[in-house]
Amino acid sequence: MKKSLIIALDFPDLDETKRFLKHFQSEKLAVKVGMELFYQNGPTIISYVKEHGHDIFLDLKLHDIPNTVKMAMRGLATLNVEMVNVHAAGGSRMMEAALEGLDSGTASGKKRPLCIGVTQLTSTSQKQMNLEQNIPGTLEDSVLHYAKLTHDAGLDGVVCSTHEVMSIHGRISDQFMTVTPGIRNAGGQMHDQHRIATPEQARIIGSDAIVVGRSITSAKDPLQAYIDVKAAWEGIRC
Ligand code: C5P
Repeated sequence: MKKSLIIALDFPDLDETKRFLKHFQSEKLAVKVGMELFYQNGPTIISYVKEHGHDIFLDLKLHDIPNTVKMAMRGLATLNVEMVNVHAAGGSRMMEAALEGLDSGTASGKKRPLCIGVTQLTSTSQKQMNLEQNIPGTLEDSVLHYAKLTHDAGLDGVVCSTHEVMSIHGRISDQFMTVTPGIRNAGGQMHDQHRIATPEQARIIGSDAIVVGRSITSAKDPLQAYIDVKAAWEGIRC
């Protein structure tokens, strides 16, 4: 999933997903299946997307006691997806348990899915973090703290905003994957996101993968929107 443009399939059901993917018959995509779709369609949606040759980031953001996360991950490993995630706020032991579950559920000879930690959601503002989560300091401090915890627990990377990519790579490791949502074309609508960047900015600061939802899924011509975002992300002038 390194250097991927991951399209967030934030749709309510399989029919809408099928309609959307019809625009991309000849493209091999990386897509994100999140709670909305997975809670409605479960493994059926995963099989459908896989049959069409796309890579999957299964974004269920697990956060529970270590044993529950371990057993859930054991099941998810059998779905043959490329990447899954947990909330880093669940703690080191929970993240280690997630890896144990993935290892035990991955069939021999197959690669276990990458596992990344969610730091602070890109919809979270600093004020909200300070007042509602009762975490003092800056968002960047909190994201770096969670990134370090995630790295030390042995996970492959984090979900973070583009604003923290350079400090994570600088202070933790260049090899530690940064997956960044909150991507908007210049002048595009922010919606509920607070910490946003353009695909060009994401490339320049060294994001390892970008997650793009509404800028592509709500576009009048999703294929063209995808081509434009991909060109900007890859640094190709159209
Ligand atoms: O439509 P938009 O581009 O804002 O979609 C971003 C996607 O990335 C959504 O599916 C959202 O759940 C996800 N995400 C996020 N911030 C995080 C983690 C995941 O926006 N920190």
